Amino acid sequence: MNLAIIGLGYVGLPLCLQFARSGVQVLGLDIDAEKVSALNAGRSYIRHIPAGEVKKLVRAGKFSASADFSLIGGRRRGDESQTKKKNLEPPHVGSYRGKIDAILICVPTPLQKNRTPDLSFVLNTGKAIARHLQRGQLVVLESTTYPGTTENELRAVLENGSGLTAGVDFHLAFSPEREDPGNPRSRVAEIPKLVGGYTPACLAAAIRVYSRAIRILIPVANCRTAEAAKLLENVFRGVNIALVNELKGVYAALDIDIWDVIAAARTKPFGFMPFYPGPGLGGHCIPIDPFYLAWKAKQVGQETRFVELAGEINRAMPVKVVARVVRALAAQKKKLRGARVLVLGLAYKANVEDDRESPSYALLDLLAARGAQVAYHDPHVPVIKPTREHPHWAGTKSVPWNRPTISRFDAVLIATAHSAVNYRQLAAWSPLIVDTRNVLAGIKTAPGQVWKA
Ligand SMILES: NC(=O)c1ccc[n+]([C@@H]2O[C@H](COP(=O)([O-])OP(=O)(O)OC[C@H]3O[C@@H](n4cnc5c(N)ncnc54)[C@H](O)[C@@H]3O)[C@@H](O)[C@H]2O)c1
Repeated sequence: MNLAIIGLGYVGLPLCLQFARSGVQVLGLDIDAEKVSALNAGRSYIRHIPAGEVKKLVRAGKFSASADFSLIGGRRRGDESQTKKKNLEPPHVGSYRGKIDAILICVPTPLQKNRTPDLSFVLNTGKAIARHLQRGQLVVLESTTYPGTTENELRAVLENGSGLTAGVDFHLAFSPEREDPGNPRSRVAEIPKLVGGYTPACLAAAIRVYSRAIRILIPVANCRTAEAAKLLENVFRGVNIALVNELKGVYAALDIDIWDVIAAARTKPFGFMPFYPGPGLGGHCIPIDPFYLAWKAKQVGQETRFVELAGEINRAMPVKVVARVVRALAAQKKKLRGARVLVLGLAYKANVEDDRESPSYALLDLLAARGAQVAYHDPHVPVIKPTREHPHWAGTKSVPWNRPTISRFDAVLIATAHSAVNYRQLAAWSPLIVDTRNVLAGIKTAPGQVWKA
């Protein structure tokens, strides 16, 4: 079996490696030439993916990367010189002549400025595939999106660009990714995977492909059911996080610690699942996906009040956390204006380097706007890369982790619970810690030194 996986990011790359490990011949396609050459040179740009793994599979000829979409159509001899010249491919890709059986799409699905879905990555990829699409091939969308995208928007670009018909000339399916970044026990092969087909034959074709690499496959009624299930999973998290974020404030006013409450409630062996409060939502999924659903709901005259309320509560968290920093400083007779505040953790989640949509940026912005001298420390983000959303922080470096540096700050605001940070040292070095993740529970500190937020 030969597979093309388009979009070699947090979702696409682990999927490539899982299929390649399972003996499938995998061609990774991406428009980012740097990623293509890094992979072909056996390098990894994702922290939890070891370079050795990439190197082994590239050397074994099981995995290669390219920016040349014509490979989807099974490249003719003589087409190879151009990409070879650009040094984007190892030699065995240049001689790639295998027919691709299936094409999996793992490109971004962000929001536009007005918080409406931006399907341009998916549709441009669809157009690029359509030019080379062959009869009998399977196309699967993995990117998170609103229900209907696969069978309406994606199908239209594939059919218009190829002259072929979905369900007749080629197979079409949707299968959402379930990644748990930063969880070392999470294995792509072991996570049950939903699959929805445009037709029963499309579903059967998709199940055939995925069963090569994934242990448990769950067929669902159609593509839109699979798309809707993925959104339910993410909205479920967003809503439950909003609930504990709200209860955190309510219980704090009643002099009850939300963390103790959750620890107690989670002893119930049925009907309860723990979610934890934090400084706000981050990452590429939970803050974004509900807007895909809300937008689609509006198209059919439906409201998503629950989803929107959860978004409001979660987006308000950084402001509340900064208010807590103000109170904590005031208790030490200090003002936020002019105070030195260190945000500890820039990544949105523990033990990852992914800073997309991280609430730490909102914290840095709010603190700086109120006159604090801000800095950050994150063992996984040594320097802030340029981004569209936070261009003003680009180039800022993580401050070093040592007593003279850390003790210089009037307050340390813990935003991410990275396990590579030594919190005992922090407790020994910092005069004031505002902890949004409860990481200092169980560590001896002085009265008034730690404020939960
Ligand atoms: N990161 C997660 O944990 C996660 C989990 C589940 C689902 N998802 C969903 O999976 C999708 C991909 O997310 P990700 O985190 O892997 O994104 P990513 O930004 O890490 O990777 C996307 C890759 O696609 C490439 N790309 C963009 N446009 C392209 C094009 N036209 N042709 C080829 N390549 C192109 C980019 O260069 C990049 O390498 C999104 O829809 C996301 O919502 C992500």
